[in-house]
Amino acid sequence: MIKPDAVENGYIGAILEKITAAGFKIVAMKYTQLSQRDAEEFYGIHRERPFFGELVEFMTRGPIVAAILEKDNAVDDFRALIGATNPAEAAEGTIRKLYAASIGENAIHGSDSDENAAIEGAFHFSGREVF
Ligand code: CMP
Repeated sequence: MIKPDAVENGYIGAILEKITAAGFKIVAMKYTQLSQRDAEEFYGIHRERPFFGELVEFMTRGPIVAAILEKDNAVDDFRALIGATNPAEAAEGTIRKLYAASIGENAIHGSDSDENAAIEGAFHFSGREVF
């Protein structure tokens, strides 16, 4: 997901360019907005964290871009491309270093395992929307 902060700041095009230039194929994509219920479900694993309320409020405040990406070693390579969760700790040239402002508003989300990628892909897309 390209998160609401990056959408608000006009970075959709630049971020998609970095993703495709890094060799990822976009197999599904949509511009949408999460409801409170959507965000609580998507980030359910973080429900007990102190930042959960802030995270849900942020993720629902404006539209996002959801996408499913395909590549060999996609999970690890995408995490390398986006950089550390906290942009202050993200490597030079990573998406979060370039386009994110804080650990809470960090521009982009990537799945942390193949299993979660399948769950998160199915959260956003039906089979007919995946190419
Ligand atoms: P993401 O990779 O989407 O997964 C969980 C999100 O929770 C994370 O990016 C951040 O946006 C948010 N998050 C993680 N840690 C913190 C924190 N300490 N304070 C606020 N938000 C956080």
